[in-house]
Amino acid sequence: MNLNGVGILTGGGDCPGLNAVIRIVVKAAQREHGARTIGFMDGFAGLVENRHRVLTPGDVSGLASVGGTILGTSNKANPFSHPILRGGETVREDLSDWAITNFRNLELDALVVVGGDGTQSIANRLHLKGLPVVGVPKTIDNDLAGTDRTFGFNSAVQRVTEALDNIHTTAMSHHRVMVVEVMGRYAGWIALAGGVAGGGDVILIPEIPYKLEKVAEVIEKRADWGRRFTIVVIAEGAKPKGGEMTISRTVDDSPDPVRLGGCGVVLANQIEDLTGVESRAVILGHLQRGGSPTAFDRNLATRYGHAALRYAAEGKFGHMVALRGTEMLPVPLSEAVDHLRLVPSDHPLVQAARAGGVSFGD
Ligand code: F6P
Repeated sequence: MNLNGVGILTGGGDCPGLNAVIRIVVKAAQREHGARTIGFMDGFAGLVENRHRVLTPGDVSGLASVGGTILGTSNKANPFSHPILRGGETVREDLSDWAITNFRNLELDALVVVGGDGTQSIANRLHLKGLPVVGVPKTIDNDLAGTDRTFGFNSAVQRVTEALDNIHTTAMSHHRVMVVEVMGRYAGWIALAGGVAGGGDVILIPEIPYKLEKVAEVIEKRADWGRRFTIVVIAEGAKPKGGEMTISRTVDDSPDPVRLGGCGVVLANQIEDLTGVESRAVILGHLQRGGSPTAFDRNLATRYGHAALRYAAEGKFGHMVALRGTEMLPVPLSEAVDHLRLVPSDHPLVQAARAGGVSFGD
């Protein structure tokens, strides 16, 4: 199929590598297809509200190294539930037909949707209504089914690793327990990969509920060996056995109303009370997803964007680009959003970490 015009939008939480995808889509659309690219602003909000900009190769030059997204993003925008003011009140309406009409009026052949599970679910619904969509898997959480790896994850793990390297010196100097809370939502990929790389002594992930007593045992044993500090890495979605995740607040204007956060502070206080060892919590938060992508993520994002354009030219709509091993292949969006990809409790990195003495608090 000949591509004349391509649309692109970035949805959900931002992450390093979004601009690298935009860059390659714009450049390759022109070089390989002679096609123009239009970027929709602020995720699906731009599609509904007809807010967009023409993107030229000059506009995207030098963007591979730049974090965030020049198009803006939103984890609230949803054409099937769009906020509008009616009679002085904000109500939500299904404006998906309106979004599709806006797209068609621009005479575009394909829409590249860059996002995580929430964004790809919406993309799938729009595809079922006839929109020619190709998905690109983005999220620092690495929890999207269908692909071995999402871009952004490697950059987040790098940030966590560097933070843990720094935390070590202050933990050692003060003989403290340092509890480092990392992102990842309901999956423990960031905590696992960052925690192992950064030398965490205890790694707590949602997939393996922990016992406080087991964490305390590690701290006490390490003290017996003369190691008077302990680094605990806790995923924001981790929970004690028989207990619940720590929710910082719930909101009603987002597809995912639950905001996780705060489990690190709770745990640090519990550890100090139980062991008597001075403990502090650090929440790495959005530092993990801001800033420049790693070389790995720049290259992965570039391959994803290029493959998405190829699938568009081949008419493989309703699919998401996926990495399996070293190969790129199209997976149906319906499969990609069917479930979250969680850490198997016997994952090789879990086994290797355990062999090296890391405790998962179980
Ligand atoms: O999905 C990416 C992520 O950074 C999660 O790890 C985290 O729970 C969430 O987004 C936070 O999103 P925000 O602060 O944008 O609502």
